[in-house]
Amino acid sequence: MGYMRHLSVPTDRAQEIIDKIKQLDWVSYEFRIHQKGENLLIPLNSEAPVPLPKNIGGEEITSEPIPMPLRKQSWKQIFEKEIGEGVLSNLDDRISKGHEIIGDIMIQPAHRFVDGRPEYIDALVRAKMQTHPRIRITLFDFGVKGKFRIRDLEIAAIRIDKIIQGDALKSLPSEILSSETIIKESGLRIHLDPSKVYFSAKLGNERIETTEKLLEFKEEIGRPLAVCDLYCGVGPNLAHLLSHKGLTSSILANDLNPECIPYLFRNLSPLKSKPVPNFEGIFHITEDIQVANMDALELASDTNQHGCWDVLFVNLPHESLEHLPHLIPLLRQDTPSIVRGWSILPTDELSTLSNRLHLISSNRSSHSEISFKVRKQYGAAKSMIGFWIRIEPK
Ligand SMILES: C[S@@+](CC[C@H](N)C(=O)[O-])C[C@H]1O[C@@H](n2cnc3c(N)ncnc32)[C@H](O)[C@@H]1O
Repeated sequence: MGYMRHLSVPTDRAQEIIDKIKQLDWVSYEFRIHQKGENLLIPLNSEAPVPLPKNIGGEEITSEPIPMPLRKQSWKQIFEKEIGEGVLSNLDDRISKGHEIIGDIMIQPAHRFVDGRPEYIDALVRAKMQTHPRIRITLFDFGVKGKFRIRDLEIAAIRIDKIIQGDALKSLPSEILSSETIIKESGLRIHLDPSKVYFSAKLGNERIETTEKLLEFKEEIGRPLAVCDLYCGVGPNLAHLLSHKGLTSSILANDLNPECIPYLFRNLSPLKSKPVPNFEGIFHITEDIQVANMDALELASDTNQHGCWDVLFVNLPHESLEHLPHLIPLLRQDTPSIVRGWSILPTDELSTLSNRLHLISSNRSSHSEISFKVRKQYGAAKSMIGFWIRIEPK
């Protein structure tokens, strides 16, 4: 067998790094994690980017892989044994390889089949659940729906003492079928239900990178940061920041989807002991934390919020750039400020993106620094980018 990519990690940090890259779905389950000298070697699959992001930790090396013992077959082997060879290679990659693991839930891309569900799709789910024993429930994902971009999900299988699928699911009590889960990310526990709120486990690495940059920014301006996350979902960005004592001064967490609010109270550490109030508009929960359930544009038109924030998170990828000009007044004007955002845009607009972002920020100051990275491509036509704008004082 040839050599393959492994991540070599010191044993004392191994569990943390294994959890991180399992979450990102970059571990090859066909081969073993094994000891070499002082370190553990984690086999990487073809989804793992080359090179790996630096903040993952460890050192990337090539080494001879050790196959899993036969009883731990890969899901592909289990699937082909049941359905036969050749079916898998004919499937759309999104269906065969596009699954995502969120806590103990697997999200399996699917589409609504006109003539009933083909046998292979249930077999695919079973095979994947057999090789990922931590998965409790699998949900078919039929795409996103509505302005909150929540996934259109349906239960595909559940593991009780065995894997249950199809009509047998109908007789199970509803509490067993709950799609609520907990993500373990960088030592944090993030609660959510993907059938009610948006969440992307794949942004975990960017949350780590964002926190690192903001820790540097805090050092530079010499005081804790006032952070406003206008499209906060269940609060993963803010949960990361709050795990660093003294990084933030005040926080405003807003999302238009009311289902996000109870999860914010479970995910943001200072809110954990607080009851979830009934409120409209913006609500001061503690001296430092405001929570809101508003349209971001309406919130940004509230002049009480203008000039208050050092950092703005803007994560409404299909509309971030249209919203952004209306959000700039929220930024503080006397010290540098930062916008961290994500956007999906036509790939041929990438070449003019820096100019466009400069122009948007020029209402506040003519001095801004722009950077962006393409995170994902949707065919040749569209790209998802993560961007940073740093705006100097007026
Ligand atoms: C792409 S998600 C980002 C969620 C979160 N920041 C994260 O990284 O998990 C966008 C969020 O914006 C919310 N949303 C959609 N339209 C909005 C609006 N006009 N104002 C405020 N929030 C909005 C959605 O409910 C969703 O939670």
